[in-house]
Amino acid sequence: MIKVEKLTKQFGGLKAVSDVSFEVKEGQILGLIGPNGAGKTTCFNMIAGALPPSSGTVFFKGQEITGLKPNKICHLGIARTFQIVKPLKKLTVKENILVGALSKSKDIKEARKKAEEVIQLTEIEDITDLKASDLSIGNLKRLEMARALATSPEVLLLDEPLGGLTTKEVENAVKMTRKINQSGVTIIIIEHIMKALMSMADYIVVLQNGIKISEGTPKEVSADPEVIKAYLGEDAYA
Ligand SMILES: Nc1ncnc2c1ncn2[C@@H]1O[C@H](COP(=O)(O)OP(=O)(O)O)[C@@H](O)[C@H]1O
Ligand SMILES: [Mg+2]
Repeated sequence: MIKVEKLTKQFGGLKAVSDVSFEVKEGQILGLIGPNGAGKTTCFNMIAGALPPSSGTVFFKGQEITGLKPNKICHLGIARTFQIVKPLKKLTVKENILVGALSKSKDIKEARKKAEEVIQLTEIEDITDLKASDLSIGNLKRLEMARALATSPEVLLLDEPLGGLTTKEVENAVKMTRKINQSGVTIIIIEHIMKALMSMADYIVVLQNGIKISEGTPKEVSADPEVIKAYLGEDAYA
């Protein structure tokens, strides 16, 4: 579905992402982990077209999409959520979802239909009439997911969707992520809550200082001494 090859992003003297390669197959959930500043969000920015790579290639279903503009990439079928959520604050949840749906619909009627479908799929009926500015962080993250889905993506990039959520909200968000994946959407997810990520991801890629230091199944990665040292903490040996 998505394949990145030797993806590199240089910010002045800093190599935020350095020769990173990975792929996610149709129907999979790929987890992207690593300490703060590892280059995870920068990878998403390059896949979604928010930042052009300094070098390297991004493929979507075999077609090269490197450096295309975000609206073009969204149109092709890749949607993302943001670590810092960005709703249209003055609009209601339903209107925000409708805006997402409009980007892919031929008219308002079709967009309304899509918005209704997404509202049902994401079980967000309880907050559709609330203004985005009045939402808790948990509900903002639900909106963010629904807004992205309204663009009918084949691939969804989730940037720390569980950050700031309560234990119960994390549980619900994990269930929802699985449900969306089962509805046919391939997912790449950046997440720090390891237990939750390990329970969702088919495969995990680990970054540190812009470099891929490990990859494998959740079991393989969590047993990799390099990962334990870099990320899970030396204490994990104890
Ligand atoms: N637009 C930018 N300009 C300059 N430096 C940036 C920019 N975006 C990210 N960085 C730097 O690149 C590194 C990787 O950042 P980021 O991809 O956000 O890491 P992560 O998401 O893994 O925490 C960090 O050192 C960060 O400060
Ligand atoms: Mg980040």
